[in-house]
Amino acid sequence: MSVTILAIETSCDDTSAAVIRDGYILSNLIAGQEIHRSYGGVVPELASRAHQANIVPVIDQAIKKAGIGIDEISAVAFTRGPGLLGSLLVGTSFAKGFSVARKIPLIEVNHLQAHVLAHFILEKGKENQVPSMPFLCLLVSGGHTQLIVVKSHFEMEVIGHTLDDAAGEAFDKCGKLMGFPYPSGPIIDKLSTEGDPNAFRFSKPFVKGLDFSFSGLKTNFLYFLRDKMKENPEFISENKGDLCASLQHTIISILISKLIKASAQTGITEIGIAGGVSANSGLRNLIKHEALKRKWKLFVPPVSYTTDNAAMIGITGYYKYLRGYFSRQDISPLARFEV
Ligand code: KG4
Ligand code: ZN
Repeated sequence: MSVTILAIETSCDDTSAAVIRDGYILSNLIAGQEIHRSYGGVVPELASRAHQANIVPVIDQAIKKAGIGIDEISAVAFTRGPGLLGSLLVGTSFAKGFSVARKIPLIEVNHLQAHVLAHFILEKGKENQVPSMPFLCLLVSGGHTQLIVVKSHFEMEVIGHTLDDAAGEAFDKCGKLMGFPYPSGPIIDKLSTEGDPNAFRFSKPFVKGLDFSFSGLKTNFLYFLRDKMKENPEFISENKGDLCASLQHTIISILISKLIKASAQTGITEIGIAGGVSANSGLRNLIKHEALKRKWKLFVPPVSYTTDNAAMIGITGYYKYLRGYFSRQDISPLARFEV
């Protein structure tokens, strides 16, 4: 008998619902929240209100697009955390209610595990190659930057992490300094294609081992802009492409140098990237280049499964369903939740 999972993701500012059947995606809908753009970051209260407004229509459409009947759903999976508590509560409450009403199992999902397991989403009619275990995953998002040894679907060891800002925050905060709306990562990515990555040099941190640090880069970028603007108030607008390309080059070279180190230390050459920043075209190109050079077997998920989406919650829910990992009705969301 087939297993059909309805999945819900509301950890931050995207309301997403997906239907996954036997590991294959049937639908994956995302309602973004434009409202945060002008605030330079996600405003938690506005995010939870928008989730409230979006959740029912998004789930309704995900079920319709999947072409299934509501009675075909075997279980409901939801993001328990980490994330914004008010946002998580919307998805959690809906999932609990749905599970009671439909008398089906409730499955909690860790958002970070789900980013990693996005590599296992299958698509009908496509040649689906999935990593074999153990593989090494660079998880880079707005809140996290981690190097993870994935030993099995639910056995993940973090061997490196950021000591301060996440890679996505480095993109977003530096973008804000240049006057870009939130999130700046995709804007910097796009403008980088028009610039020279070696036009300006920014500081790379000295961090021992496999950990990362991005707060020094942000400060360096701030002082650099401040000094240049004193000489020429139009400096940012006149050098957008070069600024973005140089900043992006610095961030991705920090990420890739640690990934190379982690692969050498662990001896793992099966490599994956995950999380919103893994949508970055510069990172994707450079990592493909490194993979060829180092004979890595590389897994780069489609862009739609890198940024927040419910399909990754669905695939994680599917593997939990197969193992009988179900949650109780008194479960509550967690703002902080380790891998
Ligand atoms: O995984 P995600 O959607 O949400 C979290 O779990 O945090 O990641 C969001 C982050 C944001 O910081 C955003 O600026 C960044 O991913 N991002 C990108 C790109 N697309 C999204 N950063 C660089 N280049 C991109 N193309
Ligand atoms: Zn995420």
